[in-house]
Order: sequence, then C-alpha cells, then structure tokens
Amino acid sequence: MIRLDKYVADMGGGTRQEVKKYIRQGRVLVDGVPVKKPEHKVDEDRQQVELDGRKIRYCRFEYYMLNKPAGVVSATEDGAEQTVVALIADRGRKDLFPAGRLDKDTEGLLLITNDGALAHRLLSPRRHVDKCYYARIQGIVTGEDVRRFSLGVNIGTAEKEEWTSPGRLEILGVDEGSGISEIRLTIQEGKYHQVKRMFEAVKKKVVYLRRESMGSLVLDKKLKPGEYRRLTDEELRDL
Ligand code: URA
Repeated sequence: MIRLDKYVADMGGGTRQEVKKYIRQGRVLVDGVPVKKPEHKVDEDRQQVELDGRKIRYCRFEYYMLNKPAGVVSATEDGAEQTVVALIADRGRKDLFPAGRLDKDTEGLLLITNDGALAHRLLSPRRHVDKCYYARIQGIVTGEDVRRFSLGVNIGTAEKEEWTSPGRLEILGVDEGSGISEIRLTIQEGKYHQVKRMFEAVKKKVVYLRRESMGSLVLDKKLKPGEYRRLTDEELRDL
C-alpha cells in the first residue's frame, strides 16, 4: 500500500505539492471515484489510479538500456547540457538515473534505472563486474601494451601513482597506413576517464570509445546511438 500523493508523484504526475493540490481538487480518481485525501492509501498492484482522465500504472522500478550518443552528459539534470535521462522520452518514474557514467564523447551501453541496489551491485569495484569497451586508438597497439594492461598500469603521475587492476586488452586490427588500431578492453573498475588514461599511460590516444557490455548485459545491436528500450525479463533476471 502506498500514499496516493506519492503514487502519482513517483510516476511523474507532478511534484508532491502539485499532486496534493490536484488530489484536493478532485482530479485524481481511485477505481473511478475521486479521492480528495493525499494520505489515502492505495494498493498499487490492484487499484487503478487516474489523473485528469489519464490512467497511471504504478511501477516500482524501471530499467532501460540506452545506446548513449556522443554529446550527451551522464547525469539526471544539467542546466546547460542534454542529459541521458532526458533521452528516455516515455519514462514513467521521475527518479531515474544512469547506473555509472560515460564521458560526454563516449557512446554505448548505459543502464538507466531507479534501482539503486542493482546499480550499486554493478558498479562496486569489489563485485568485479566486467565492463567491456570497443575503441579506436591513435597509435599502433602492441603485444607489449596487452602485457602491461594485464598487469595493471599507472594512470596517475610519477609523484602520485594510481594503479589500475589488470585489464584484458584484445587487438582487433591495426591499420599501419592510418596508424589507427581497433581494440576491445575489458576492465572491472570505473575510475575517472579510465580507458582513456590507460592508453595515455602507454603513450596512445583513444579517438572513439563505445561501451559494449556490463556484466551479462550486452548492448543491443539494433539500438542506434540515442535509442533505448526496456530491459527484457531475461536480461533483468541475469543481472
Ligand atoms: N573510460 C573512459 O575513459 N571514458 C568512459 O566514458 C568510460 C570509460
């Protein structure tokens, strides 16, 4: 059971104060009957709630897979920039956030949810969840880089060292002509700009970066940058 004002506000009907006003104005119906008390308790699984004639289904958690496009920030709100949460046009809940951050110029898999416990499980370094990235690198990536990444690299400075955990680097292709390498890198942490800083540590530059998977969750190839879909029951169960 949940308070009527919380039910409507959680599902994006307005701020808690606005919703209280709508309820007192008789604009909110429970099972077809106006209920004017914001504190009235409703059974979110069985009862039907409407605001101004629009049915509002209660959903405790929402989970969306977004193919983040470049140029959008991984935040819930930002006065100046477009955010990943704003891309989820048909979201019900108003408390969605991105589970982890991708840089503004990075593309790829981002889970958008309001399930804090799940986000914590995926992001905590102690859980060792694989995050897999595809990247194009300015420079010829070598077996020596693979070896160094497998040991962990210093992404700090000589004075203030910051070592990463081992990462699995695969060389997918090297174009000697353009000097661009294609790689896949799997890491279990999410330090600030980690992939870019790992390549800087071996004197190379990431020119394109896309996250392909996080644990069992794999970016759906059908999603173009900027597109999203709800997670399937199977994806959710596997997470
Ligand atoms: N590593 C980076 O450098 N950037 C990202 O967006 C993600 C991982």
